Amino acid sequence: MPKPKVLATRPLFPEARQILNADCEVEYWQEPERIPREELLRRVRDKEALVCLLTERVDDELLASAPKLRIAANVAVGYDNIDVAACTKRGVAATNTPGVLDETTADFAWTLLMAVARRLGEGEALARSGNWKGWDLDQLVGTDVWGKTLGIVGFGRIGRAMARRASGFQMKVIYTDAVRAPEETERELQAEFRDMDALLSESDFISLHVPLLPETRGLFNAAKFSRMKRSAFLINTARGAVVDESALVRALEAGEIAGAALDVFEKEPEIHPGLKRKNVVLAPHIASASIETRTKMACMAAENVTALLAGRRPANLLNPEVLKTA
Ligand SMILES: NC(=O)c1ccc[n+]([C@@H]2O[C@H](COP(=O)([O-])OP(=O)(O)OC[C@H]3O[C@@H](n4cnc5c(N)ncnc54)[C@H](O)[C@@H]3O)[C@@H](O)[C@H]2O)c1
Repeated sequence: MPKPKVLATRPLFPEARQILNADCEVEYWQEPERIPREELLRRVRDKEALVCLLTERVDDELLASAPKLRIAANVAVGYDNIDVAACTKRGVAATNTPGVLDETTADFAWTLLMAVARRLGEGEALARSGNWKGWDLDQLVGTDVWGKTLGIVGFGRIGRAMARRASGFQMKVIYTDAVRAPEETERELQAEFRDMDALLSESDFISLHVPLLPETRGLFNAAKFSRMKRSAFLINTARGAVVDESALVRALEAGEIAGAALDVFEKEPEIHPGLKRKNVVLAPHIASASIETRTKMACMAAENVTALLAGRRPANLLNPEVLKTA
């Protein structure tokens, strides 16, 4: 029997290729640049499975040009690049990679938080510049992290991993979420629930961990920034569009907040020029980028594909309805 055909929009990692290659005939996009849209539409035409990244849009147009497609497996936990309803309508399974990147992503959100509070970007630039004249009392003085209040917006897997790390810094942790966490979780993580307004006015650091949904698009806008402390910092490792970038730039320019540290942007890879300021730390969407975690994510996506093609339920199915109608 011929093996099912799969398109992977990246060469993935050897461990993930091994999983896929055992059962499938896989075409890997190998070029250094991301796969152009027309090429993606052309190559997916005869495929039963697609392993894609968050840089590929899986929408009605793509689904219409892939009549044999049975699964779109995203190598990411966030799946705002996938129109899940359109997949469901066409009986295509959609999967993501939750859970395996929580700790790595939270580690990086902390990296950003500490970098912006302690002015690491400016310090690094000075140390490399050849212009450093030596220790001075008021040189690059930043803001303490320890003992401050951390406000977490979106208290899911990554938000909670963020909270777990705060106890070592003797911080007070408050959070807001569409769904309040069980009492036991609040107690274990020593995290207190707040409504958004209270979180905005009490937090010294606000870290975003909500998915990008119609309700969270532009969630952090001018009105939110105006309610934050002038000494507070915003950390975003969720999705760029959760923040209204132009409003953030205006808030930074007006000194309404003290700074920001961002891993994600509204129109990646473009970065709003107004964000290239000293009190903003910028990273190119690398919060989950450790070799261990990215390998796990790729393997998870590969396993979702092989499960579905073998007639089993993929572990991370986003639209279980497709199996009921099959
Ligand atoms: N920068 C990166 O590389 C990177 C890495 C991993 C995840 N992410 C992003 O982080 C997001 C969160 O991941 P997760 O695994 O923790 O997801 P999760 O589903 O475990 O948690 C999300 C939380 O947000 C809450 N939420 C949803 N809508 C809300 C709203 N309107 N208001 C308040 N709370 C709301 C949910 O109730 C949930 O508790 C992902 O969707 C992804 O976009 C980014």
